[in-house]
Amino acid sequence: MSRESLRAAIISATATLASAGVPSPGVDAAELAAHLLGVSRTRLGMTPLVESSWLAEYRALVARRAERVPLQHLIGTVPFGRAVLEVGPGVFIPRPETESLVAWALDAIDDVRQPVVVDLCTGSGAIALAISAARPDARVIAVERAPAALRWARRNIGRHVGAGGTTVELRGGDVTDQRLLADLDAAADLVTANPPYVPDGTPVEPEVAGFDPPEAVFGGPDGLGVIRPLISVAAGLLKVGGVLAVEHDDTQGESAPDLLRARRVLTDVVEHPDLAGRPRFVTATRVRMGTQAPAAGTLDQ
Ligand SMILES: C[S@@+](CC[C@H](N)C(=O)[O-])C[C@H]1O[C@@H](n2cnc3c(N)ncnc32)[C@H](O)[C@@H]1O
Repeated sequence: MSRESLRAAIISATATLASAGVPSPGVDAAELAAHLLGVSRTRLGMTPLVESSWLAEYRALVARRAERVPLQHLIGTVPFGRAVLEVGPGVFIPRPETESLVAWALDAIDDVRQPVVVDLCTGSGAIALAISAARPDARVIAVERAPAALRWARRNIGRHVGAGGTTVELRGGDVTDQRLLADLDAAADLVTANPPYVPDGTPVEPEVAGFDPPEAVFGGPDGLGVIRPLISVAAGLLKVGGVLAVEHDDTQGESAPDLLRARRVLTDVVEHPDLAGRPRFVTATRVRMGTQAPAAGTLDQ
Protein backbone atom coordinates (compact mmCIF):
# COMPACT_ATOMS: atom_id res chain seq x y z
CA MET A 1 0.00 0.00 0.00
CA SER A 2 1.38 3.45 -0.89
CA ARG A 3 2.35 5.90 1.83
CA GLU A 4 2.34 9.67 1.63
CA SER A 5 3.76 12.60 3.55
CA LEU A 6 1.67 13.69 6.55
CA ARG A 7 3.22 17.13 6.42
CA ALA A 8 2.14 17.61 2.80
CA ALA A 9 -1.37 16.43 3.70
CA ILE A 10 -1.62 18.96 6.55
CA ILE A 11 -0.32 21.78 4.34
CA SER A 12 -2.92 20.96 1.70
CA ALA A 13 -5.69 20.69 4.35
CA THR A 14 -4.64 24.07 5.75
CA ALA A 15 -5.08 25.65 2.31
CA THR A 16 -8.52 24.02 1.94
CA LEU A 17 -9.65 25.31 5.34
CA ALA A 18 -8.21 28.79 4.73
CA SER A 19 -10.14 29.16 1.49
CA ALA A 20 -13.32 28.08 3.33
CA GLY A 21 -12.79 30.98 5.79
CA VAL A 22 -11.96 28.80 8.82
CA PRO A 23 -10.39 31.22 11.35
CA SER A 24 -7.40 29.06 12.41
CA PRO A 25 -6.85 26.73 9.45
CA GLY A 26 -3.36 25.47 10.40
CA VAL A 27 -4.33 24.59 13.95
CA ASP A 28 -7.52 22.85 12.82
CA ALA A 29 -5.75 20.89 10.06
CA ALA A 30 -3.19 19.69 12.61
CA GLU A 31 -5.83 18.94 15.28
CA LEU A 32 -7.84 16.80 12.87
CA ALA A 33 -4.73 14.87 11.86
CA ALA A 34 -3.76 14.35 15.49
CA HIS A 35 -7.31 13.21 16.33
CA LEU A 36 -7.30 10.67 13.51
CA LEU A 37 -3.84 9.38 14.47
CA GLY A 38 -4.78 9.24 18.15
CA VAL A 39 -1.86 11.41 19.23
CA SER A 40 -1.48 14.94 20.56
CA ARG A 41 -0.73 17.75 18.10
CA THR A 42 2.82 18.12 19.43
CA ARG A 43 3.58 14.49 18.48
CA LEU A 44 2.58 14.71 14.83
CA GLY A 45 6.27 14.85 13.85
CA MET A 46 6.59 11.21 14.98
CA THR A 47 4.45 10.12 12.00
CA PRO A 48 6.16 11.27 8.79
CA LEU A 49 4.18 8.99 6.45
CA VAL A 50 0.51 7.92 6.32
CA GLU A 51 -1.40 5.24 4.39
CA SER A 52 -3.60 6.36 1.50
CA SER A 53 -6.66 4.92 3.28
CA TRP A 54 -5.85 7.17 6.28
CA LEU A 55 -5.48 10.09 3.89
CA ALA A 56 -8.94 9.49 2.42
CA GLU A 57 -10.44 9.55 5.92
CA TYR A 58 -8.50 12.69 6.78
CA ARG A 59 -9.63 14.50 3.63
CA ALA A 60 -13.25 13.61 4.41
CA LEU A 61 -12.91 15.13 7.89
CA VAL A 62 -11.23 18.23 6.48
CA ALA A 63 -14.06 18.61 3.95
CA ARG A 64 -16.60 18.63 6.80
CA ARG A 65 -14.57 21.25 8.65
CA ALA A 66 -14.48 23.29 5.41
CA GLU A 67 -18.31 23.16 5.54
CA ARG A 68 -17.84 24.91 8.91
CA VAL A 69 -18.81 21.95 11.08
CA PRO A 70 -17.13 22.89 14.41
CA LEU A 71 -13.78 21.25 15.08
CA GLN A 72 -15.08 20.11 18.48
CA HIS A 73 -18.01 18.25 16.88
CA LEU A 74 -15.62 16.44 14.54
CA ILE A 75 -13.28 15.50 17.37
CA GLY A 76 -16.17 14.85 19.80
CA THR A 77 -14.56 16.33 22.89
CA VAL A 78 -13.29 19.64 24.24
CA PRO A 79 -10.90 20.20 27.15
CA PHE A 80 -12.15 22.72 29.70
CA GLY A 81 -10.12 23.41 32.83
CA ARG A 82 -9.43 20.05 34.43
CA ALA A 83 -12.42 18.48 32.69
CA VAL A 84 -12.88 17.00 29.22
CA LEU A 85 -16.43 17.36 27.86
CA GLU A 86 -18.14 15.35 25.16
CA VAL A 87 -19.99 17.68 22.80
CA GLY A 88 -22.09 17.38 19.66
CA PRO A 89 -25.41 18.45 18.14
CA GLY A 90 -27.76 20.12 20.63
CA VAL A 91 -25.24 21.49 23.09
CA PHE A 92 -23.18 24.68 23.33
CA ILE A 93 -19.43 24.15 22.86
CA PRO A 94 -17.58 25.44 25.95
CA ARG A 95 -15.29 28.35 25.07
CA PRO A 96 -11.75 28.96 26.35
CA GLU A 97 -12.72 32.48 27.53
CA THR A 98 -15.07 30.94 30.13
CA GLU A 99 -12.01 29.38 31.79
CA SER A 100 -11.20 32.86 33.17
CA LEU A 101 -14.49 32.79 35.09
CA VAL A 102 -13.71 29.29 36.40
CA ALA A 103 -10.23 30.38 37.54
CA TRP A 104 -11.72 33.36 39.39
CA ALA A 105 -14.43 31.18 40.95
CA LEU A 106 -11.96 28.55 42.18
CA ASP A 107 -9.81 31.25 43.70
CA ALA A 108 -12.85 32.80 45.42
CA ILE A 109 -13.74 29.53 47.22
CA ASP A 110 -10.14 28.53 47.86
CA ASP A 111 -10.45 28.74 51.65
CA VAL A 112 -14.06 27.53 51.92
CA ARG A 113 -14.24 23.89 53.06
CA GLN A 114 -16.89 21.73 51.37
CA PRO A 115 -18.34 24.65 49.41
CA VAL A 116 -21.82 24.53 47.92
CA VAL A 117 -21.68 25.60 44.27
CA VAL A 118 -24.59 26.19 41.89
CA ASP A 119 -23.90 26.43 38.14
CA LEU A 120 -26.84 28.00 36.28
CA CYS A 121 -27.27 27.35 32.52
CA THR A 122 -24.79 24.48 32.65
CA GLY A 123 -25.06 23.28 29.02
CA SER A 124 -22.58 20.40 28.67
CA GLY A 125 -21.82 20.72 32.39
CA ALA A 126 -18.55 22.52 31.63
CA ILE A 127 -18.26 24.96 34.54
CA ALA A 128 -19.81 22.56 37.05
CA LEU A 129 -17.44 19.75 36.08
CA ALA A 130 -14.34 21.96 35.92
CA ILE A 131 -15.10 23.13 39.46
CA SER A 132 -15.92 19.64 40.70
CA ALA A 133 -12.70 18.26 39.17
CA ALA A 134 -10.64 20.94 40.91
CA ARG A 135 -12.61 20.78 44.19
CA PRO A 136 -13.70 17.21 44.92
CA ASP A 137 -14.93 18.34 48.36
CA ALA A 138 -17.52 20.67 46.79
CA ARG A 139 -21.22 19.90 46.46
CA VAL A 140 -21.96 21.10 42.91
CA ILE A 141 -25.50 21.51 41.57
CA ALA A 142 -25.90 22.17 37.82
CA VAL A 143 -29.09 23.52 36.23
CA GLU A 144 -30.14 23.43 32.58
CA ARG A 145 -33.44 23.80 30.72
CA ALA A 146 -32.89 22.41 27.20
CA PRO A 147 -33.57 18.64 26.94
CA ALA A 148 -30.77 18.05 24.40
CA ALA A 149 -28.21 19.90 26.52
CA LEU A 150 -29.39 18.00 29.59
CA ARG A 151 -28.61 14.72 27.80
CA TRP A 152 -25.03 15.86 27.11
CA ALA A 153 -24.62 17.12 30.67
CA ARG A 154 -25.91 13.81 32.07
CA ARG A 155 -23.44 11.95 29.89
CA ASN A 156 -20.50 14.14 30.90
CA ILE A 157 -21.41 14.00 34.57
CA GLY A 158 -21.72 10.21 34.29
CA ARG A 159 -18.14 9.98 32.99
CA HIS A 160 -16.79 12.12 35.79
CA VAL A 161 -16.48 10.62 39.21
CA GLY A 162 -14.43 12.75 41.53
CA ALA A 163 -12.24 11.68 44.41
CA GLY A 164 -14.32 9.90 47.03
CA GLY A 165 -17.06 9.21 44.46
CA THR A 166 -18.24 12.84 44.30
CA THR A 167 -20.46 13.79 41.43
CA VAL A 168 -22.36 16.79 40.12
CA GLU A 169 -26.13 16.95 40.81
CA LEU A 170 -28.03 17.82 37.65
CA ARG A 171 -31.44 19.53 37.70
CA GLY A 172 -33.66 20.20 34.71
CA GLY A 173 -35.56 23.48 34.66
CA ASP A 174 -35.67 27.18 33.99
CA VAL A 175 -33.10 29.15 36.00
CA THR A 176 -35.38 32.18 36.01
CA ASP A 177 -38.02 30.22 37.96
CA GLN A 178 -37.69 31.43 41.57
CA ARG A 179 -39.15 28.14 42.91
CA LEU A 180 -36.84 25.74 41.07
CA LEU A 181 -34.00 25.92 43.59
CA ALA A 182 -36.03 26.92 46.66
CA ASP A 183 -34.33 24.19 48.74
CA LEU A 184 -30.99 25.94 48.15
CA ASP A 185 -32.10 29.37 49.41
CA ALA A 186 -29.14 31.13 51.06
CA ALA A 187 -27.12 27.89 50.81
CA ALA A 188 -24.53 28.60 48.11
CA ASP A 189 -20.96 29.74 48.63
CA LEU A 190 -20.63 30.28 44.88
CA VAL A 191 -23.06 30.72 42.00
CA THR A 192 -21.68 30.63 38.46
CA ALA A 193 -23.50 31.29 35.20
CA ASN A 194 -22.64 31.45 31.54
CA PRO A 195 -26.13 32.22 30.23
CA PRO A 196 -27.18 33.08 26.68
CA TYR A 197 -26.24 36.76 26.25
CA VAL A 198 -25.67 37.68 22.61
CA PRO A 199 -28.15 40.39 21.54
CA ASP A 200 -30.68 38.98 19.04
CA GLY A 201 -29.72 39.65 15.44
CA THR A 202 -25.96 39.91 16.10
CA PRO A 203 -24.06 38.31 13.18
CA VAL A 204 -22.23 35.16 14.33
CA GLU A 205 -19.74 32.74 12.74
CA PRO A 206 -21.20 29.87 10.66
CA GLU A 207 -20.16 27.36 13.36
CA VAL A 208 -22.28 29.25 15.92
CA ALA A 209 -25.24 29.88 13.60
CA GLY A 210 -25.35 26.29 12.40
CA PHE A 211 -24.37 24.28 15.47
CA ASP A 212 -24.72 26.12 18.81
CA PRO A 213 -28.41 25.96 19.84
CA PRO A 214 -29.97 29.46 19.48
CA GLU A 215 -31.34 29.29 23.05
CA ALA A 216 -27.75 28.87 24.24
CA VAL A 217 -26.49 31.94 22.41
CA PHE A 218 -29.11 34.67 22.05
CA GLY A 219 -30.50 36.54 25.05
CA GLY A 220 -33.21 38.82 23.65
CA PRO A 221 -33.02 42.29 22.06
CA ASP A 222 -30.29 43.58 24.42
CA GLY A 223 -28.88 40.13 25.26
CA LEU A 224 -29.79 40.55 28.95
CA GLY A 225 -33.13 38.72 28.83
CA VAL A 226 -31.92 35.72 30.85
CA ILE A 227 -29.25 37.55 32.89
CA ARG A 228 -31.79 40.00 34.44
CA PRO A 229 -34.03 37.42 36.16
CA LEU A 230 -31.07 35.09 36.77
CA ILE A 231 -29.39 37.68 39.00
CA SER A 232 -32.45 37.71 41.25
CA VAL A 233 -32.41 33.93 41.56
CA ALA A 234 -28.64 33.85 42.12
CA ALA A 235 -28.80 36.52 44.85
CA GLY A 236 -31.39 34.40 46.68
CA LEU A 237 -29.21 31.28 46.45
CA LEU A 238 -26.14 32.91 47.98
CA LYS A 239 -25.37 32.74 51.68
CA VAL A 240 -24.00 35.94 53.24
CA GLY A 241 -20.39 36.23 52.01
CA GLY A 242 -21.10 33.96 49.04
CA VAL A 243 -20.00 35.08 45.58
CA LEU A 244 -21.54 35.25 42.14
CA ALA A 245 -19.82 35.18 38.73
CA VAL A 246 -21.81 35.80 35.54
CA GLU A 247 -20.36 35.76 32.03
CA HIS A 248 -21.70 38.33 29.55
CA ASP A 249 -21.22 39.78 26.09
CA ASP A 250 -18.28 42.12 25.49
CA THR A 251 -20.83 44.89 24.78
CA GLN A 252 -22.26 44.48 28.31
CA GLY A 253 -19.18 45.60 30.26
CA GLU A 254 -21.27 48.39 31.85
CA SER A 255 -24.86 47.17 31.62
CA ALA A 256 -24.22 43.80 33.30
CA PRO A 257 -22.37 45.28 36.34
CA ASP A 258 -25.13 47.91 36.61
CA LEU A 259 -27.70 45.13 36.99
CA LEU A 260 -25.73 43.69 39.92
CA ARG A 261 -25.18 47.09 41.52
CA ALA A 262 -28.95 47.61 41.45
CA ARG A 263 -29.34 44.75 43.97
CA ARG A 264 -29.10 45.91 47.56
CA VAL A 265 -27.93 42.50 48.72
CA LEU A 266 -24.90 42.46 46.38
CA THR A 267 -21.68 44.36 46.92
CA ASP A 268 -18.10 44.44 45.57
CA VAL A 269 -19.32 44.37 41.98
CA VAL A 270 -16.25 43.91 39.77
CA GLU A 271 -15.99 43.59 36.01
CA HIS A 272 -13.32 41.19 34.62
CA PRO A 273 -11.68 40.84 31.19
CA ASP A 274 -11.26 37.49 29.38
CA LEU A 275 -7.98 36.08 28.05
CA ALA A 276 -8.22 38.45 25.07
CA GLY A 277 -8.72 41.49 27.33
CA ARG A 278 -12.43 42.02 26.48
CA PRO A 279 -15.07 42.64 29.20
CA ARG A 280 -16.32 39.11 29.87
CA PHE A 281 -17.68 38.43 33.34
CA VAL A 282 -18.88 40.24 36.41
CA THR A 283 -18.63 39.18 40.04
CA ALA A 284 -20.27 40.28 43.29
CA THR A 285 -20.57 39.26 46.94
CA ARG A 286 -23.77 38.71 48.92
CA VAL A 287 -24.26 40.90 52.01
CA ARG A 288 -26.88 40.79 54.75
CA MET A 289 -30.03 42.79 53.95
CA GLY A 290 -29.66 46.35 55.14
CA THR A 291 -25.84 46.36 55.38
CA GLN A 292 -25.46 48.40 52.22
CA ALA A 293 -27.07 51.77 51.53
CA PRO A 294 -29.31 51.38 48.47
CA ALA A 295 -28.87 53.73 45.56
CA ALA A 296 -32.00 55.73 44.69
CA GLY A 297 -34.55 53.66 42.79
CA THR A 298 -32.75 50.31 43.20
CA LEU A 299 -34.45 46.98 43.66
CA ASP A 300 -34.63 44.98 46.86
CA GLN A 301 -33.11 41.67 45.94
C1 LIG B 1 -23.94 29.92 26.64
S1 LIG B 1 -24.55 28.30 27.02
C2 LIG B 1 -23.41 27.92 28.32
C3 LIG B 1 -23.23 26.48 28.64
C4 LIG B 1 -22.12 26.20 29.65
N1 LIG B 1 -22.35 26.86 30.91
C5 LIG B 1 -20.77 26.61 29.10
O1 LIG B 1 -20.17 27.57 29.60
O2 LIG B 1 -20.31 25.97 28.15
C6 LIG B 1 -26.06 28.71 27.88
C7 LIG B 1 -26.91 27.53 28.33
O3 LIG B 1 -28.04 28.03 29.05
C8 LIG B 1 -29.18 27.27 28.74
N2 LIG B 1 -30.35 28.10 29.05
C9 LIG B 1 -30.81 29.17 28.37
N3 LIG B 1 -31.86 29.72 29.00
C10 LIG B 1 -32.05 28.98 30.13
C11 LIG B 1 -32.98 29.06 31.20
N4 LIG B 1 -33.90 30.04 31.26
N5 LIG B 1 -32.91 28.14 32.19
C12 LIG B 1 -31.97 27.16 32.15
N6 LIG B 1 -31.05 27.04 31.16
C13 LIG B 1 -31.10 27.94 30.15
C14 LIG B 1 -29.01 26.93 27.28
O4 LIG B 1 -29.79 25.80 26.92
C15 LIG B 1 -27.50 26.66 27.22
O5 LIG B 1 -27.20 25.31 27.47
